Amino acid sequence: LNTVVYAQKTAGISAVSEKTLSTILEKNRAFYTQGKVADYIPELGKMDAKAIAFSVVEKNGKVLNVGDVQKKFTMQSISKIIALMIAVNEKGEANVFEKMGYFGTDKPFNHFSNLETTGKPLNPMMNAGAILTTSLISGDGEKPFQKILDMVRYITKNQTIDYSKSVYESEKSTGHRNRGMFYLMKNNGLITGNEDQLDNYFRQCSIEVTAEDLAKIGYFFANECVRFDGDSQYKNTEVAQLIESQMLTAGMYEFSGEYTRTVGLPSKSGVGGGITVSVPGKMGIGVFSPALDQHGNSAAGYHMILDFVKQYHLSLF
Ligand code: DON
Repeated sequence: LNTVVYAQKTAGISAVSEKTLSTILEKNRAFYTQGKVADYIPELGKMDAKAIAFSVVEKNGKVLNVGDVQKKFTMQSISKIIALMIAVNEKGEANVFEKMGYFGTDKPFNHFSNLETTGKPLNPMMNAGAILTTSLISGDGEKPFQKILDMVRYITKNQTIDYSKSVYESEKSTGHRNRGMFYLMKNNGLITGNEDQLDNYFRQCSIEVTAEDLAKIGYFFANECVRFDGDSQYKNTEVAQLIESQMLTAGMYEFSGEYTRTVGLPSKSGVGGGITVSVPGKMGIGVFSPALDQHGNSAAGYHMILDFVKQYHLSLF
């Protein structure tokens, strides 16, 4: 399909081109100077702050890429939506959310929040809820992590995806707050396993992807868990609605409310500098730029999304 025909076929969406994406990328490239590459995990601090990429998967599955699209980075918190999907597919939504809330937050991603009061994590997007979610995936040892990795490979149709051993080791040796949350939730009776389960969380954060992979993940949840090439073996409207609603409520942590006001789309960020966006029923967007704002979200990534969404009127509201 040429772009004009495609524009006619996708009523309401004018044609997106790599040229448009490129213009948006160049306009926002300099925003990396306003952010800072995460270095609380020493290995993450080695990222090239100037790297930037922007990827879109359109309704028909067509991939558009600009910038450093071959550049790999760790998905970090974006892995939380994959883990949530697997846990809910295995245990059912009610059993997962009996142990955690659907709440938004005004706290940073690694906050203990109400683990000491109600005893339960606020939501599955902040670290506490995400660590708990991964512990709910069945299997011993590395098995739950392997399921997450396999699902990322399936959604992106990219079998070469793996995790970074050095980032994993770095997370494991410095993740004392996460370890604290893990044991507090064990004390609260929410977690029943051993520290292998926490290691699986560290491993899932260390899975390396590209902006294109993130756009395909965004597409998957935007389209009822149907893959960009049309494969529908995991098609599930309820699960897609659940994941998208959590992305909208808490995917950008304490910035989620303001982000929903300005961008207005389910999105999930990671401290590796990636953001994945779902445009419900339509497309997926993946951006990458490692310098983060004060909330832990990619600075240039946010501004690229904002411009793109405004230009194509993609906000839900
Ligand atoms: O738990 C951590 O500290 C990281 N491995 C993941 C956190 C993350 O990506 C939060 N993001 N914005």
